[in-house]
Amino acid sequence: MAYECIKVETRGGVGLVTLDRPKALNALNAKLMAELLEAARAFDADAKIGAIVITGSEKAFAAGADIKEMQSLDFVEAYMGDFIGGWDKVGTVRKPMIAAVAGYALGGGCELAMMCDFIIAADTAKFGQPEITLGTIPGMGGTQRLTRAVGKAKAMDLCLTGRMMDADEAERSGLVARVVPATELIETAIKAAEKIAGFSQPSVIMAKESVNRSYELTLAEGIRFERRLFHSLFATEDQKEGMAAFAEKRQAQFKNR
Ligand code: HXC
Repeated sequence: MAYECIKVETRGGVGLVTLDRPKALNALNAKLMAELLEAARAFDADAKIGAIVITGSEKAFAAGADIKEMQSLDFVEAYMGDFIGGWDKVGTVRKPMIAAVAGYALGGGCELAMMCDFIIAADTAKFGQPEITLGTIPGMGGTQRLTRAVGKAKAMDLCLTGRMMDADEAERSGLVARVVPATELIETAIKAAEKIAGFSQPSVIMAKESVNRSYELTLAEGIRFERRLFHSLFATEDQKEGMAAFAEKRQAQFKNR
């Protein structure tokens, strides 16, 4: 499949999507987001792929939604055209997605990274929700996911002042899972994804589903949900294999069954 705004490749069991609109610092437009969703869904459906990495360039993961494309929209066009309506479907991909972020992850770019399951950042990464400087606000979960990730104080600071935070601050505040030197970013993200891809896919997908449910449910309901999934995994061959391999001091050979 030929794409215009992204590059797609596989590395073993890992699907790698590179955002590729360098002249606009990977600003997100309808075409890029449709291509990203199509590529992510294709990886999701591919039994050989166990995890997905989304990355950008050295300078920018993505500098936001494309301002030049949306600047002339009026309310009726935005509302009736359901502007950005399908973009957050990236969050419905079932296999784990890692955002490997170098440079700017601003506005919709930060929101896209937050839709992934975790973020590995280069030491050059800069995160922010600068929509306020444009007379608008985040529209793809920035006020919601960022607040859950970093807490009210910092989310308010970022959304109201439009300032950026660097990789260290992002890690300290819980937005980012790891920070690595920029030269090691892709390798680190692929390695993490390969590790995930080597585990039993049903347990990986259930682990992701269960962590994500913690956003939606009370603690008691979330724990009940987790317990049902936990019990259900005893029905898999891979649970038998994983535990037998531990007891026999050998590497498990998972079959995703
Ligand atoms: C369209 C963009 C863009 C964007 C950068 N460019 N960001 N085009 N939409 N979001 C373009 C610039 O116009 C320029 O094109 C080229 O990319 C290089 O950018 P420069 O500004 O020249 O680079 P630099 O001086 O290094 O500054 C980098 C920057 C700055 C700090 C990231 O580009 C910037 O502030 N960008 C906008 C960030 C932003 O406000 N994002 C939020 C968007 S709103 P030319 O043709 O001039 O060379 C949003 C809403 C989300 O995301 C809603 C849900 C999705």
